Amino acid sequence: MTAKIVSIAQAKGGVGKSTLCANLSVTLSQTGKVMMIDCDPPQNSLSVWHQVRDDVYIETGLSIEKANTPAQLNSLIEKNKSNFDYILIDGAPHVNPLVRSMLLLSNLVLVPLAPSKVEIWSFAAFESLIHEATKYNKSLKTKIVWNRVRKRVKSSDEVIETVSKDSKLSALKNQITFRVAYVDSFAEGCSVYEWSDPVASAEIWSLSSAVKRVISKLESVNSTKSVAAQNFIKKG
Ligand SMILES: Nc1ncnc2c1ncn2[C@@H]1O[C@H](COP(=O)(O)OP(=O)(O)O)[C@@H](O)[C@H]1O
Ligand SMILES: [Mg+2]
Repeated sequence: MTAKIVSIAQAKGGVGKSTLCANLSVTLSQTGKVMMIDCDPPQNSLSVWHQVRDDVYIETGLSIEKANTPAQLNSLIEKNKSNFDYILIDGAPHVNPLVRSMLLLSNLVLVPLAPSKVEIWSFAAFESLIHEATKYNKSLKTKIVWNRVRKRVKSSDEVIETVSKDSKLSALKNQITFRVAYVDSFAEGCSVYEWSDPVASAEIWSLSSAVKRVISKLESVNSTKSVAAQNFIKKG
């Protein structure tokens, strides 16, 4: 087997990267072997979540490693890609060399976005970065994931409509709504699938199925070691 590599990346904090990474890891682990790589030092909230999970459960069903440098990330992927079905990588809330190398090593990048005007101010710059990364990782696929969506809120609908018109990146149809279950379950080392909110559980399952459909069609990454690619990574 060769793991499909999915990064969750955005240049902003608090958009739900770690939350989505944890929740998708649990749902994907129901049908495959999942490894998570936490690339957000020193915060490492995904690792803390996994530690809480490990304290509560006999088996977490997931493996986790930390990477602090592009070289560490590269070697973790090389060492583990034939032993896992999925490798999910959680990124830092700013652009750094680790985030840049995530873009070059992934099959799919999920970009969580909250539908508020303020949240999308920094999005254009991140979109340009992804565009630049596709020069070096030609098979890279990117999907926006709308998170913390409030249904029937006009300003929220307007932001989603504007981004879908103006951005070259498309969004997954499955949206994640604003629900306390995401906050509470994470604090207890769980996913919403293991929590008492059937709506949140159903939306994470749908998202997970959509992610599976997208990655099933993707070719493996020809991780480029060219000087230009290395310079792209170092720019961060
Ligand atoms: N869909 C959601 N509904 C409610 N709260 C959410 C949702 N997604 C994330 N959160 C909360 O938002 C905060 C930031 O999420 P987090 O995953 O840590 O973001 P990031 O990793 O991008 O910094 C956390 O308190 C988390 O519980
Ligand atoms: Mg995080």
